[in-house]
Amino acid sequence: MGTNFQYIPCSLQDELRRIANAILVPGKGILATDESPNSMDKKFAPYCIPNTEENRRLYRQVLFTTENLQEYISGVILHNETLYQKADNGKTFGDLLRHRGIIIGIKVDKGIVPLPGSLDESTTEGLDDLYCRCGKYKRDGCDFAKWRCVLKIGKHTPSYQAIVENTNVLARYASICQSQGIVPIVEPEVLVDGEHDIIKAQKVTETVLAAQYKALNDHHVFLEGTLLKPNMITPGQNCTRKNSPEEVAYVTVQAFLRTIPAAVPGIVFLSGGQSEEEATVNLNAINNVNLKHPWELTFSYGRALQESAMAAYAGKKENIPQAQIELLKRAKANSLARAGKYIAGSIPPFKNEQNLFVADHKY
Ligand code: 13P
Repeated sequence: MGTNFQYIPCSLQDELRRIANAILVPGKGILATDESPNSMDKKFAPYCIPNTEENRRLYRQVLFTTENLQEYISGVILHNETLYQKADNGKTFGDLLRHRGIIIGIKVDKGIVPLPGSLDESTTEGLDDLYCRCGKYKRDGCDFAKWRCVLKIGKHTPSYQAIVENTNVLARYASICQSQGIVPIVEPEVLVDGEHDIIKAQKVTETVLAAQYKALNDHHVFLEGTLLKPNMITPGQNCTRKNSPEEVAYVTVQAFLRTIPAAVPGIVFLSGGQSEEEATVNLNAINNVNLKHPWELTFSYGRALQESAMAAYAGKKENIPQAQIELLKRAKANSLARAGKYIAGSIPPFKNEQNLFVADHKY
């Protein structure tokens, strides 16, 4: 069996390593704001905000102009629409964030589509013009990218077909990004939907991650220039037995030790429908777990960083200062959790604990 036994050029390796390490600096994590225009419906509907391009711009402006955001946030993931939208001062959001020292990430997948022949499973599309798009995004100031695949736990899922397809498409995406100097966030999300217990979630996640690193190797991806964005390992949403943050932390790190190479510099968790406090407390426990591990463990949250800010803002100009206070509070809470120093309940969310779970979540 022939294969390519060459590494990518050293200068490209250095560039990718530099970006990944800059994202992983101590005390910081990623703010994911790359919801597609359609999926903003879910965020705006409870506050009766019409889902227009202008209202999306105004909302993102609230987030990105939050003073001192860069103290806790090293990178922000944007949707294509947001990258080129302008703040009131005429700067594009990309430029505005970069001038604040925040690294720009771009969602490059084109969404989840059915995987014919599978057990009602999916894959993610967007490879066709990816090479050109990555080149343009790099020229336009983006240094990292995100591509999300989802795998469902059911009686007979995830199927072998879904695991092979999704891990392979993520590996292809990763290799294309790297060729253009963009650090890929590899996101094979095992959904929380279902009645399964934590042990089933652990076993499935281990199988998916093992396949993921085999696929990345098959595609000659330079691991030091990648980030992994996994689910934490928790019981299914409808499982009657709940687990403590310490149990979640232990099985999560144990699964990673079994499957993720030490060359990977960092793991940036998604929040996956956990409440804001839950996502913070679990990240804190993960950073305190008594297992030796080689990677940075931080956050790349969407819902669990934005929920309070959105609720405080509610589409009203007069609420902007409070919304920005709320965003900064969540960012600070997760910054502490990333160091294992968050005290549960010490930075409460804007509203009482909310369940942010959305069945079959689309991004
Ligand atoms: P959540 O934190 O809302 O799960 O989203 C993060 C993300 O970027 C999913 O792709």
